[in-house]
Amino acid sequence: MNTISQNNRVLSGMRPTGLLHLGHYHGVLKNWIELQHSYECFYFVADWHALTTHYEDPSIIGESTRDMVIDWLAVGVNPGNSTLFVQSRIPEHAELHTLLSMITPLGWLERVPSFKDQQEKIKDRDLATYGFLGYPLLQAADILMYKAGHVPVGEDQVAHVELTREVARRFNHFYGREADFEKKVEAAKKKMGKKNARLYQDARKRYQEQGDSEALSIGQALLESQQNISLSDRERLLGFLDGEGRIILPEPQSLLTVSSKMPGTDGQKMSKSYNNTIALRESVDSVTKKIRTMPTDPARVRRTDPGDPDKCPVWDFHRVYTDEPTKIMLAEGCRTASIGCIDCKQYIVDSILDELKPIQQRVKEYLNDLSGVDSIINEGCEHARDVAQDTIEEVRKVMGLTGRR
Ligand code: TRP
Ligand code: SF4
Repeated sequence: MNTISQNNRVLSGMRPTGLLHLGHYHGVLKNWIELQHSYECFYFVADWHALTTHYEDPSIIGESTRDMVIDWLAVGVNPGNSTLFVQSRIPEHAELHTLLSMITPLGWLERVPSFKDQQEKIKDRDLATYGFLGYPLLQAADILMYKAGHVPVGEDQVAHVELTREVARRFNHFYGREADFEKKVEAAKKKMGKKNARLYQDARKRYQEQGDSEALSIGQALLESQQNISLSDRERLLGFLDGEGRIILPEPQSLLTVSSKMPGTDGQKMSKSYNNTIALRESVDSVTKKIRTMPTDPARVRRTDPGDPDKCPVWDFHRVYTDEPTKIMLAEGCRTASIGCIDCKQYIVDSILDELKPIQQRVKEYLNDLSGVDSIINEGCEHARDVAQDTIEEVRKVMGLTGRR
């Protein structure tokens, strides 16, 4: 197996299908912000992905695209560190999708769990479309285009990253053998210096003749430590080491985000499809009303009835927002009926409003400077497109598409 030293790049996308809410913030965006410190991040608006399910009424997609980027910026996604772009503005994604579709067995797509699951779950739309079947492959194209090493995803998307890995492996298997591969390998070896070249050669021999996996690791470590060789030479040497050929599209890893603990206003997970969300742009009145009208422990009918926090959906919010001493005090108050639900809920209202206030302030600033926002998106698209063009150029070449010169 090729365990190429992955680059330091992260890529993730989000569908523009409505206003962002606290579930997105706690479940996804906080993680995106954190990753900016250690990785080169690419974050994009997955508008083509949104069309796979919203093709009948796409108005929401157009409306949400810029607003979504504004919300990203407002919570702290930093365009100085991260490249923010819109998928449909990088047409190379569509080209790579087409090219990858040539080598992707139908069964691989039919077997992706979300294909059947979503069709069964979403009854009000016809998802027996070509686009919906191919959507995980479009995602593979998104990821491989940037040769991303890491893809932060929720559990429901892990199978898509797995498919991406399989497609990359198949691609490299077919096309990683350049006509002059061996010649290029020899040239690359020379750049390592005599001693290292000999160590490399030894490791390769031991691995390929005796299946010695320790020798494989030694060879890989040796290549990782080389300063004098380019990335593509390193990929060639890795491919030559394990006999797989050159790695053109490196296999990504999932960075599994622990599933969000963010509850909705009804005790289920916060999600637009449950209609239980609090938007990042929710007004003070609306936040207050949504929390005040939340169901509580059904046993607390009257103010004087004791309750059990473990049976109360409001308590899930305390788990997210409230410090230990206050929680101990509130749980005691609930069990002894010494506090009322209105008071208990007020803590949540205050915490959410405190959290949203600076975010909404920044949203307002960006809304007052839409041309500034558009410049951020334009610059992100330009940068993304440069990277995408390099990849697609390489892919065209190895797939025989040398028609344009
Ligand atoms: N499929 C993802 C979702 O529905 C969005 C997405 C599209 C994505 N392309 C991606 C996520 C590439 C990570 C990497 O949420
Ligand atoms: Fe729920 Fe708080 Fe009321 Fe107890 S006091 S039932 S935890 S809202």
